[in-house]
This record gives sequence, C-alpha cells and structure tokens, in this order.
Amino acid sequence: MNVGSTKEKNPEKRISITPDTSKSFKNLGLNIFLEKGYGDSLGYTDKNYKDTGAEILNSSEEVLSRSNLLCKVNFPTEKELSIIKENTHLIVSNYNPEIEKKFLNNKIKIFALNLLPRITRAQSMDVLSSQANLAGYRAVIESIYEYQKAVPMMMTAAGTVPAAKVLVVGAGVAGLQAIATAKRLGAIVSATDVRLTAKEQVESLGGKFLTVEGSENLETKGGYAKEASEDFKKKQAEMLENAASKNDIIICTALIPGRPAPRIITEKMIDKMKSGSVIFDLAVAQGGNAAYSEVDKIVNKNGTKIIGISNVMNKLPLTASNLYAKNLFSFVRNLYSREKKQFVINLEDEIIKNTLLKE
Ligand code: NAI
Repeated sequence: MNVGSTKEKNPEKRISITPDTSKSFKNLGLNIFLEKGYGDSLGYTDKNYKDTGAEILNSSEEVLSRSNLLCKVNFPTEKELSIIKENTHLIVSNYNPEIEKKFLNNKIKIFALNLLPRITRAQSMDVLSSQANLAGYRAVIESIYEYQKAVPMMMTAAGTVPAAKVLVVGAGVAGLQAIATAKRLGAIVSATDVRLTAKEQVESLGGKFLTVEGSENLETKGGYAKEASEDFKKKQAEMLENAASKNDIIICTALIPGRPAPRIITEKMIDKMKSGSVIFDLAVAQGGNAAYSEVDKIVNKNGTKIIGISNVMNKLPLTASNLYAKNLFSFVRNLYSREKKQFVINLEDEIIKNTLLKE
C-alpha cells in the first residue's frame, strides 16, 4: 500500500510526514511517496526522506494519483480532489463542514482528525491537543514580543522593574500551556474558566484562579464548557473589568465546542487597560473572544494592541509538524491491518466511526 503526501498550499507551512514518521511507515510495511522538495521549507531535504526509504516523485499530481492513502494538513483543493483516484483514503487535520461539505463524495474516504473522540486510546492521535498546546505557548511569546516592557521582575542599580501581569481567559489545553509559559518567563499569572475543575490545574501551575462568586460549575459530562447564563456573564464581566485594568497581557483561549467563540473581553474592559497592554485572541478565527480582534492583524486601540493570528502553528511549523506527523502516524497504524495488508474501515471502532466524513 502506498502512503503519499504533497506540499500544502501557501500560507500553510506545516507538513504531514516527517523523516521520522516516514521511517515508521516503512517499518509498518507501507511505501512512502512524496512530492519533490516536500520538506524543503522546514529544512528536511529529499535526501533525508530517501534515506528512510521514501520515494520522491516529480509532481504533486503523480503523488495524488498513485497513493492509496494521502496525508494532508488542510483539506485539499477541488483540483487536487479531482486527481485523487477512487477508493483512496485521505486524512486531514481539520474539517469545516460549512466550507468543505460540498467537496465530500463517496469516491474518496476522508478522515478528519479534529473529530477524534477524546478517549484514552485516541490520545496519541489527538491533534487538537498537540496543536493547541503549542498555540498556547506561542500566544505568550508573540504577546511578549509586542509588549514593550520586560516580563520578569528585575532589581537593578537603576531601579526595580516590576513583573508583568498576565491574565489567561479559558484554562483548557491552550490556556494551561499559556499559564505555564508566562510563569516560566517570570510573569504574575492569573486565569479564569467557567469550569471550576480548572481551578486546581491553574493553581498547580502557579496561577491564581479568578472566579465568579457562588457560580455553578459550567462543565458537561465530557469535560467541556457549557454556555453560561446571562447572570453569570454579567458577573464575569464585572470581575474581568477589574482584572483588565490590573493586567498587562491578556491571552484569550475560551471555547465552547460547536459554538462561535464567546465574546468575553469587551470594549469597556479594553478601555480600562493601561496603554502598552497586549491582548492575544487565539479564538479570532471563530469570531474572537475579544472586541476589535481581526484575523491576522494587530489592532491598536488607545495604546492596547489586540493580536489575532488565525494559524499560530505557522510560527513554529517544525515542532507543529513533528507532533502532527506523529498524531497522524498513530491514526494510520490503527487503520492499517498488517495481516490483510490493507486499510480497514471498521465502523465499530469509535476512532474510525467518528472521524470518517459522510456526505
Ligand atoms: P479547550 O476546549 O481545551 O479550552 C477552552 C477553554 O475555554 C475551556 O477550558 C472552557 O471551559 C473555557 N471557556 C469556555 N467559555 C468560557 C468563558 N465564558 N469564560 C472562561 N472560560 C471559558 O480548547 P483549546 O484546544 O485550548 O483551544 C482554545 C481556543 O484556541 C479555541 O478557540 C481554538 O480554536 C483556538 N486555537 C487557535 C489556534 C490558532 O492558531 N489561532 C490554534 C489552536 C487553538
């Protein structure tokens, strides 16, 4: 069986197969077909791949038409889909039904890794976690780059530099890594979440947990956030107005699955922030947690910079690709039967059933 991958379309910098996983695929008994110059932008040469036993083909068309299983980061274009032959298996990191549903057909079996069930067996394939963790880290780095002051407290002969104060809104995967990163860099960190179970995790990372007094735990059985009541939102806004005026950097990562991003940081809160403050809105592509945030822009509002980067992984594509490639390899290992020497769609397997896209 042939596993192939082609370069992603600009501006995506991540790739799906690294030399490391190319070797793992070979060890599983699978052939690897890659487009010429596949990993060049990340410093992986064709020779690096050939050394693992991969074959380098001259064009993306050749890879698309000769592979039994294709590995991609993003959903292929209509043109690419037309080249892929019938019964090919295709794996993508993310599927957006609003845009991509029209491209589904029974010709190709498409799996989307963002639909993986959050069960123990799927942990090694969990692309949402591997990428969000990096996004939380990088959101802090990008914010500090735009922040015009030092972050840790410094006592110098010329005077004391106070530590920066960082507030993280949403303490899920990205948020917890943002807290850990800001702490490591010497900031004073606080965080808030509607799930009260997040308190212990925030505190274990050295952050202070901010919560609405007397609020109920807004958590589903699956561990995700529930929509908050109007009363909760009002009290949360009052608490955050006060916190906004005291913090230098706010990292927004709040998400309720299947909903547009909750709007949490309002115009009024931004008005109260000190000049020179920074807000990073990780949820910008889902509508944004913060007022004024715009996709792939830095908006300056009375001296506060509001950063919206839709694909933060493009800022650290090598690490993001290494982790994504490992997630993807784990998924393929579960899909491939060494005995039958083919990919088997076992719909009794929750992992396969959840990720297989239907027309
Ligand atoms: P997650 O589901 O692990 O965490 C989201 C957290 O927000 C949860 O803990 C939830 O309880 C909390 N939350 C929900 N409503 C809230 C509210 N009103 N107030 C406070 N907290 C609230 O999600 P994950 O994986 O950490 O992703 C976070 C966001 O970052 C998502 O919007 C995701 O799409 C985005 N993201 C963006 C990337 C980018 O490149 N821009 C990359 C990766 C993730």
